[in-house]
Amino acid sequence: MAIDEGRLMAFVHKFVGDLGATMAAGGIVVGDRLGLYRALAERPMRPQELAERTGTAARYVEEWLRGQAAGGYVEYDEATGAYALTEEQAFALTNPNGPIFAPGAFQLAIGALRAEPQITQAFLTGDGLGWHEHDSDVFAGCERFFRPGYSASLTSSWLPALDGVEAKLRTGAQVADVGCGHGASTILMAQAFPSTTFVGSDYHAGSVEQATKRAEGLSLGDRVSFHTAAAQSFNGGPYDLVTMFDSLHDMGDPLGAARHVRSSLRDDGTSMIVEPAAGATVGDNLNPIGRVYYAFSAFLCVPNALSQAGGYSLGAQAGEEPIRRLAADAGFSRFRRAAETPFNIVYEARP
Ligand SMILES: C[S@@+](CC[C@H](N)C(=O)[O-])C[C@H]1O[C@@H](n2cnc3c(N)ncnc32)[C@H](O)[C@@H]1O
Repeated sequence: MAIDEGRLMAFVHKFVGDLGATMAAGGIVVGDRLGLYRALAERPMRPQELAERTGTAARYVEEWLRGQAAGGYVEYDEATGAYALTEEQAFALTNPNGPIFAPGAFQLAIGALRAEPQITQAFLTGDGLGWHEHDSDVFAGCERFFRPGYSASLTSSWLPALDGVEAKLRTGAQVADVGCGHGASTILMAQAFPSTTFVGSDYHAGSVEQATKRAEGLSLGDRVSFHTAAAQSFNGGPYDLVTMFDSLHDMGDPLGAARHVRSSLRDDGTSMIVEPAAGATVGDNLNPIGRVYYAFSAFLCVPNALSQAGGYSLGAQAGEEPIRRLAADAGFSRFRRAAETPFNIVYEARP
């Protein structure tokens, strides 16, 4: 077999870049947990100064800063020996409530990778691995990964894109948020629509507990509550709106879930299904965003679905057609793509 030297070296460069990114993920999580990025956003600092400011050990901080500069996450001034964040780096690295927050994504990735031994085994057996069996960084990282996108778009563009929904939420409506995790989406909606009642549910009791804690102290009163329940059997209704944020494709029985959502809706109600952005074919998804989602899907979404009754797995890159078919099979008569961002597609399904 003839090896093309140029193609081989291009592949080696690619893998070295990926290796650096993989190891750097640990440093990004460390920098976030210890407040290193937040402190550096205040002003340029030398390693000793940043260590003193954050109560950390200078030799570790020095090595961390060098790696961060090599990766383009901080800037280095050779003349002064100081490190700094640009406005853009600070914007994406320091604010968990802003529209972009890279450390949350890496926390999710590191948490997911802790399950590598179980996932390797699952590839051999075909067994599942439930969401609840993962490291707690998966739950917290998921919230911190998704919330920026929700704060940027949910109340400003996704809900207004649904037919007549925003007006109902303003005057007072009943909403269920299914597979709500730590409740980031539920709480954002509740804060925006003070006349409406929100019920979040998730099969994972630990996430429901955290969601309840997140809502405490936000003066949302009993307008917001969280319950442990599977999507196929959550309580209450009839609802004006049932939302599913990045959860439908995780379910082993998505048809059962969609049918239950349909039966919990008022006749003029709406189901909002937020799914990862994906093209119609595998080929359409062979790009950096598809790579991110396929990788998370193999470690989180597919194993979770295969761990549940139903044993069917859409995966995180299912695309529009399977979701449209699911909605039709569940008894929805209208289905459309209502909004999209580079990371998400928002579908509207109506009875
Ligand atoms: C990717 S997370 C998204 C969480 C949350 N909606 C968000 O956007 O941050 C998927 C969620 O679906 C939940 N889930 C998975 N299968 C479920 C099921 N059958 N019924 C209810 N929730 C489920 C998981 O526990 C997890 O919290």
